[in-house]
Amino acid sequence: MKDKLQKLQQVALSEIEKTQGLEELEQIKIKYLGRKGELNTTKKSIKDLSNEEKPVIGGLVNKISNTIESKIEEKHNIFYKESIAKKLEKETIDITLPGVTSSRGKLHPLTSTINEITGIFAKMGFSLVESKNSPEVETEYYNFDALNFPPDHPAKDMQDTFYTKIAPFVLLRSQTSNSQIREMEQKLPPLRVISPGRVYRAESVSSRKNNLFHQVEGFMVDKDVTFSDLKGVLNEFTREFFAQQRPTRFRTSYFPFTEPSVEIDVQCIICCGKGCRTCSGSGWLEILGAGMIDPNVLKNVNIDPEQYSGFAFGMGVERLAMLKFAINDIRLFFNNDLRFLKQF
Ligand code: PHE
Repeated sequence: MKDKLQKLQQVALSEIEKTQGLEELEQIKIKYLGRKGELNTTKKSIKDLSNEEKPVIGGLVNKISNTIESKIEEKHNIFYKESIAKKLEKETIDITLPGVTSSRGKLHPLTSTINEITGIFAKMGFSLVESKNSPEVETEYYNFDALNFPPDHPAKDMQDTFYTKIAPFVLLRSQTSNSQIREMEQKLPPLRVISPGRVYRAESVSSRKNNLFHQVEGFMVDKDVTFSDLKGVLNEFTREFFAQQRPTRFRTSYFPFTEPSVEIDVQCIICCGKGCRTCSGSGWLEILGAGMIDPNVLKNVNIDPEQYSGFAFGMGVERLAMLKFAINDIRLFFNNDLRFLKQF
């Protein structure tokens, strides 16, 4: 028995010595030390031995088992170190390569322009419209009738305004002026409100026109609000927005909801008044419409025009952004081309 065990140890150790890799080593471990392995089988047969032999053989089996085990472990460590060394050699990394960075998101140029415009008016005491008072899906009443549009006004035509199939009088608003009516209906003067948002017009799309664009509406109603308040507020706005003292021009115009009405031009930012393609040779660029709120509009929202007066204005955000950043096609704002968006 003793000899058999000694022999077994010898064979096992030399087999371990000859192994080539971790897998082979694992097989050998199972063969000798596993539950059904050779040493275990011997262990089980110890009970049939004589009492003198039992401790001797038992001790020997344990000793051999330990020897084999530590030899396997030794070999295992060698293989493991070798495999790590091989891996390191194969997988050299170039630490001079630039890392993979995720680029930071930015605000869309229209969003930042809107933020800038509303920020300038906020400094002059204007507060942001309540979003429920500035819906994009609107009725004919708030978009036109309450704003003193006569029933046969051409803007009310299907050719100019998108009507929905919800009901014959439900449309996509063509101007942010609807928010004037909704705010004034609900609140008492003094009021100073700024209202940015999307508007829709049934127009053929070109480099200057899109079916969807953005406006910022603003209005102020109080006792003794005069045209010079309008002038002061809007001059201050253009001065801040274009970041320099740029000449402005107030031209008489017409809107159904303001009287008198004006359009405001700034001196062309490209040619500084000399006349170029951008300003069609005039030296001026139109940036917004404005005027004193028509007494009929105040009556429509139950504000007494004998006691109160106000001014209102509306500006196209795309137009302002195009002037400020020298962009020549309005469609660039809506194509979501990263080459364009990344410039802001
Ligand atoms: N709503 C007008 C437009 O879309 C602009 C405007 C607003 C004019 C307020 C006067 C007062 O053209």
